[in-house]
Amino acid sequence: MKIAMVGSGYVGLVSGACFADFGHEVVCIDKDPAKIESLHQGIMPIYEPGLAELVAGNAKAGRLNFTTDLAAGIDGAGAIFIAVGTPSRRGDGHADLSYVYSVAEEIGANLKQASVIVTKSTVPVGTGDEVERILTDANPGVRFAVASNPEFLREGAAIGDFKHPDRIVVGTEDDWARGVMTEVYRPLFLGRSPMLFTSRRSSELIKYAANAFLAVKITFINEMADLCEKVGADVQDVSRGIGMDGRIGAKFLHAGPGYGGSCFPKDTLALLKTAEDYEAPTRIVEAVVKVNDARKRAMGRKVIEALGGTDESRGKKVALLGLTFKPNTDDMRDAPSIAIAQALIDAGVSVAGYDPEGMAIAAPLMPEVAMQPDAYAAIEGADATVIVTEWDAFRALDLERIKRIAKAPVLVDLRNVYNPAEVRARGFSYSSIGRP
Ligand code: UGA
Repeated sequence: MKIAMVGSGYVGLVSGACFADFGHEVVCIDKDPAKIESLHQGIMPIYEPGLAELVAGNAKAGRLNFTTDLAAGIDGAGAIFIAVGTPSRRGDGHADLSYVYSVAEEIGANLKQASVIVTKSTVPVGTGDEVERILTDANPGVRFAVASNPEFLREGAAIGDFKHPDRIVVGTEDDWARGVMTEVYRPLFLGRSPMLFTSRRSSELIKYAANAFLAVKITFINEMADLCEKVGADVQDVSRGIGMDGRIGAKFLHAGPGYGGSCFPKDTLALLKTAEDYEAPTRIVEAVVKVNDARKRAMGRKVIEALGGTDESRGKKVALLGLTFKPNTDDMRDAPSIAIAQALIDAGVSVAGYDPEGMAIAAPLMPEVAMQPDAYAAIEGADATVIVTEWDAFRALDLERIKRIAKAPVLVDLRNVYNPAEVRARGFSYSSIGRP
């Protein structure tokens, strides 16, 4: 089947390349000519493990193409995915749907064959109805249906998540659209990935409910970690102990500096707005958003404590290792490192930073942080070394070398990468999250 993917950002590009890899003929469309030109040359607009190879292989095989021309791109496509951004609207936290609606208008004006229009962008409940209205108004004169098909990809693991999903959710009330979507996902369907067909509104809400629930889980364990520190318990054992209960599940119970990224912060806020609009407040999610925001700043205070407190820390130097919101991405959106760096700078601490992939994007966001070419250059002369993001490269740091080059052997491990007893035995003052 020919598939058109409108929006060649993170979601569109990964989904498009994976659909092509399944054997579909895919055209990725984007209005940014520089992005399309780069893609033609095999240059990826984002860092995602395995993506460049997947794109190159499928482009070479002729199954994956790129264009800025939406009318040509959607010509002959049996399914047209809308995968453009839905950022938080400035000021109120509502999802900004202007890109989605303008794409719907353009599709309506150019559609020449029967096609299912699928929203893959994360969109609030009811957006599919509006997309349908826009298309109906455009009256393209061919059969169409609007379906919802949210994505559940994690950055850094997106290709694996796409090819081996826990589930595929499709929201449509239209039997024909259901058939088309079954065809689109047939390779996964045959691989026994469960496919949940539901109403369009339920599908739209599933996406927000899933992300909000995961944010709740992370925030819950983060608060338990704070309690562990007070009562002398170990949050890793608490996680394991509760996660072995099949009703709770072991995943997303890693305590850390607070969740960040392009999804949880934005989607929890958008869910709160929807809940407010419909007068069905989701107070648990409200609390999670507040707790998580406060947590990122609190991590800065934790580092200051490791330096000896507010007065002692003034004029000292800290090395921040890992700036992206999580490993294996160059994404800096809502990264805890930003709040931590700011808290330190506000306290008169000078900050050096290093990240394996994120420094180019991080530098303008934290202009007062001195970016360094590698971890040890950042640690040179530092009074404390802080692991903010658990990149593999920081899992086996040369502790002896750190002792030699740092001003003080102080390690603050905000991702619980190291074993406290081992690091302390090497002569470090070590603090982590929720462990005695
Ligand atoms: C998240 C969801 O996991 C995906 O299913 C969803 O498709 C995606 O949002 C989206 O809506 O597009 P992502 O933001 O890429 O994916 O990253 P996650 O791996 O979920 O991590 C999010 C944040 O939570 C990171 O800051 C991470 O460090 C933090 N986290 C995650 C924890 O602090 N503890 C955990 O146990 C797990």
